[in-house]
Amino acid sequence: MKAIVLSGGKGTRLRPLTYTGAKQLVPIANRPILSYVIDNIARVGIKDVGIIISPETGSEVKETMGDGSKWGIKITYIMQSEPKGLAHAVKTAAEFLGQDPFVMYLGDNLIGCGIEKFVDTFNSTKADAVILLKPVDNPQSFGVAQADESGRIVCLEEKPKNPKSNLALVGVYIFSPEIHKAIANIKPSPRGELEITDAIQDLITRGAPVQSHILDTWWLDTGKKDDLLAANTIVLDEWFKRDIRGKVDNSQVTGRVTIEEGAIVKNSTLRGPIVIGSNSIVEDSFIGPFTSVGNNSRIYKSIVEHSVILSGAELSHVDRLEDSLIGRNAKVRKCHDKHQALRLMIGDDSVVEV
Ligand code: DAU
Repeated sequence: MKAIVLSGGKGTRLRPLTYTGAKQLVPIANRPILSYVIDNIARVGIKDVGIIISPETGSEVKETMGDGSKWGIKITYIMQSEPKGLAHAVKTAAEFLGQDPFVMYLGDNLIGCGIEKFVDTFNSTKADAVILLKPVDNPQSFGVAQADESGRIVCLEEKPKNPKSNLALVGVYIFSPEIHKAIANIKPSPRGELEITDAIQDLITRGAPVQSHILDTWWLDTGKKDDLLAANTIVLDEWFKRDIRGKVDNSQVTGRVTIEEGAIVKNSTLRGPIVIGSNSIVEDSFIGPFTSVGNNSRIYKSIVEHSVILSGAELSHVDRLEDSLIGRNAKVRKCHDKHQALRLMIGDDSVVEV
């Protein structure tokens, strides 16, 4: 079995962060989302993984993820010249996939468990597709499935206005090579994309077995700020341990706090779960639960809680920062002159609440 990970697309929803980076590389607890995806794929013993990349963000993805040796796998990069849909991405990877069954994993999806059970279902039922479903409150934002009592899928629709169920398609799929024939049968959707949901519907219409699994853990489609903060909170809470490699000087560090190599924490209070990236400096500050501080950042005389601070950012004399997402190399500081006005230099699509 092989795997493809979809890391192309334009990633417009996390602007301004994704003007400069792929949304699949946005760090959750200081690791790119894609790393968690590859963890799950490597854990089921798949050794041959293709990552679909786009001309805009491909080189950054390549540089970050490398050749796969970190995971004991081989990564092949596959360029998709335009984001013409999930089924188009499979078409682009056809040569890489050959006649092997494969896992297709969307590079911006995080789930709270491994994929062993889904691979077992695929192998034991001999289905042509296994899809993962999760009941949601807003099915119109997703692919939506209708299943019978045995879990067999009867109908699929992409982002329907009037959804027939509340079962959303999670971004993890397993396919037999039959999917390539189905993709050859479909036409672009009204939004101009070759939809994988249409290809799976084609399998169903032709009587091919399509199985489903209901995901019983959390799932985060990390497209927006609140999703990202939620993902950060859950990952820090569930998967992080206390691990102090950096230097702690005259500070109180309680709970599951990870301080990476080369980081310095001085005259500060840290209450986990927290991760402080390598070579960052925290001085005269309080950092509260569910905060990730990226590498090479500086937090000085500030109070921060439930926030994601990306690498190279600086906070200075910030009385209290909560529920915030601070981009790479961004600076937030209090001015000490008498001038009462705010002075801002804010990128496109930013949100500032004062
Ligand atoms: O997250 C689950 C949802 O993902 C499913 O419920 C939907 O059925 C499915 O169509 C998909 O919907 P999205 O609108 O969220 O897909 P998005 O455009 O965000 O793309 C998902 C990932 O695939 C993302 O990492 C970008 C990548 N991608 C996307 C397209 C359209 C590609 O690599 N190439 C593409 O052509």
